[in-house]
Amino acid sequence: MVKILKWLGIVLGGLVALVVIAVVVLLLLGGRRVNKEYDIDVAAVNVSNDAGTIARGKHYVETLGLCQECHGEKLEGEILEDDPVFGKLVPSNLTSGVGGIGGSYTDIDYVRAVRHGVGPSGKPLVLTPSEFFNRINDADLGAIIAYLKSLTPVDNDIPKTKLGPLGRVITLLDETLVPAGMIDHEAVRPQDVAPAVSVEYGGYLAIVCTVCHGDNHAGGAVPGEGAEVPLGPNLTPKGALSSWSGEDFASTIRTGTTPAGKILDSEFMPWLRFQALTDDELAAIWLYLSSLPPLDTNS
Ligand code: HEC
Ligand code: HEC
Repeated sequence: MVKILKWLGIVLGGLVALVVIAVVVLLLLGGRRVNKEYDIDVAAVNVSNDAGTIARGKHYVETLGLCQECHGEKLEGEILEDDPVFGKLVPSNLTSGVGGIGGSYTDIDYVRAVRHGVGPSGKPLVLTPSEFFNRINDADLGAIIAYLKSLTPVDNDIPKTKLGPLGRVITLLDETLVPAGMIDHEAVRPQDVAPAVSVEYGGYLAIVCTVCHGDNHAGGAVPGEGAEVPLGPNLTPKGALSSWSGEDFASTIRTGTTPAGKILDSEFMPWLRFQALTDDELAAIWLYLSSLPPLDTNS
């Protein structure tokens, strides 16, 4: 009996030691991901502050950029999560008010942050979806920066984002939490595409749709989300859109109601932001979606 207990003790002790070692290794690996230093040769983009450019930047930020979804209506920043185990998720105050980045950021700092997902210190930024913003061309990125620099200052001194032990371990499972690691920082810059009602421009505008409707727009589970989020519908000509006209599409995005009368949940499908897309932009996206190969819905 005593012998069995002794062995049981050794086995249990061994298991506990293994678990402790595994946790320590995961924490170290996660910590490495969060504390990695990126030394990127950031290429400047032209930032001109004429009214037309600022308006173009505002339009991008408020529609396809979805920046307000996380940074707040006035981009004044907000606390999304503050938990000692997960950590702090705090989309920054992007204005030049107290607690905002506007007072200290240079144009290159904005490019490094938005396009590369890396802060001025060289550390990777958490959550801000630079893996998509990386595909924004120089003309739009320059306009976005011009608009951010023109924001009305809002005083909102909020804490900085900092992942706790759980958040760090999750970065190992969900790389979109620290997108800098997913980006080819040396890639050739995306070409400027002339704004037009064209398949090519529609494809450029529709980059943001892939966040939830899949890389091939064929829908399925929204990446990184659980069962509480509805599936992203298939946007290729094999999905519900196959029986829609361009007007049906535009009216769905503008009103959040499909031709079949289904009301889209704006918490998951951000149509309240896309509502402000122009007729031409919606027509271009429609042309592009209609040109896609009909694909089965992603499983
Ligand atoms: C899914 C949520 C989310 C969206 C959408 C988002 N951001 Fe962020 N952003 C964050 C979070 C969280 C941080 C703080 C990251 C950190 O400090 O590690 C951040 C940080 C930043 C920073 C760096 C600020 C600093 O403190 O150094 C900039 C610049 C920025 N975002 C710009 C944008 C712009 C422009 C858009 C839209 C085109 C945008 N973000 C959309 C979540 C988001
Ligand atoms: C943040 C995630 C997200 C993004 C980004 C997004 N969608 Fe959606 N979309 C959804 C979800 C989820 C649904 C299903 C909503 C529901 O069932 O209430 C949906 C539904 C739709 C529908 C209705 C389809 C149907 O069969 O009923 C259309 C059309 C659509 N999205 C188009 C787009 C387009 C175009 C873009 C890019 C400009 C886009 N979505 C970007 C998540 C997203």
